[in-house]
Amino acid sequence: MTSDTNSDSVTPAARAGEFLLGGDLPVRRLGFGAMRLPAGTFQGPVRDPETGIAVLRRAVELGVNHIDTAWFYRREGVVANELIRAALAPYADDLVIATKVGPLLGSDGIPSGEAGPARLRGLVEDNLRTLGVDRLDLVYLRVGGMGAPGGASVADRFAALAELRAEGLIRHLGVSNVDAAQLAEARAIAPVVAVQNNFHVHDRGDVELMARCEKDGIAFVPFFPLGGGHRPIDATALATVTARHGATTAQVALAWLLASSPALLAIPGTGSLDHLEENMAAGRIRLTADDLAVLGD
Ligand SMILES: NC(=O)c1ccc[n+]([C@@H]2O[C@H](COP(=O)([O-])OP(=O)(O)OC[C@H]3O[C@@H](n4cnc5c(N)ncnc54)[C@H](OP(=O)(O)O)[C@@H]3O)[C@@H](O)[C@H]2O)c1
Repeated sequence: MTSDTNSDSVTPAARAGEFLLGGDLPVRRLGFGAMRLPAGTFQGPVRDPETGIAVLRRAVELGVNHIDTAWFYRREGVVANELIRAALAPYADDLVIATKVGPLLGSDGIPSGEAGPARLRGLVEDNLRTLGVDRLDLVYLRVGGMGAPGGASVADRFAALAELRAEGLIRHLGVSNVDAAQLAEARAIAPVVAVQNNFHVHDRGDVELMARCEKDGIAFVPFFPLGGGHRPIDATALATVTARHGATTAQVALAWLLASSPALLAIPGTGSLDHLEENMAAGRIRLTADDLAVLGD
């Protein structure tokens, strides 16, 4: 954590503190997820790219230096990686862009298959090209479908990414939608600096995995931090704490995540400037032990 996280001079994202990703990339713990920029949902109507660019630029003004994306975050020609490049290139030295490979898109625009090891090089190159970089800061191997993690071996696919890292195309590797056995399998092949799994205030199944990450210096990066997936955040369940802090439901959901582990990096996704401002303002909320008890820690 930075020492001045409550000073008025620091940006909203910086108030959430910092984490040293991979031992060499300092990132603010309040970051940004780019999935909602091209469309609100994979099949939803395409969103205005100029708004997406404005959201990205404002996120950086608010202190974000960790952006999560994927080549497959796209809708009808609007591509998250290209918006990031248009908005932010040439990139600031301290900006960390994390991307992920593995899912393949069906013709309906929905991830519907998984790339085998031989396809991963092409997917990494797609990310290099669309982001306009020579090396990707962090690439997650995203495995499994939309259901719970676990099952298939990740060894062959992770080894393929480790080769690309050894070639210099990737700085750090992560894994996404994995269980503890898959994480261990990947770590036996190459260092894993981040785990990205579904986790939020009502979905705490990975609390032990998060503790393992914290202990080993691995970032734990929840996807669907605001319940954007199958289980929405229940405003009523958070009402006592939102009232105490004069905060919104989304802000308390984010504050709960940030309080849950110093290794947790939040990447709330939005295509809305208003929601972005609201989410970044969560960096100043400090939940008390009583708040956490009310939220059922
Ligand atoms: N590894 C994976 O499998 C995986 C899966 C999903 C997501 N991700 C990554 O994780 C990031 C975060 O997840 P996410 O974007 O899906 O879900 P999320 O952050 O849980 O929720 C996003 C949803 O909440 C809405 N929202 C955002 N801020 C809000 C606010 N202050 N008040 C009310 N509604 C708000 C958004 O709509 P608006 O856009 O209209 O604001 C959007 O519908 C993604 O952007 C992506 O980078 C990874």
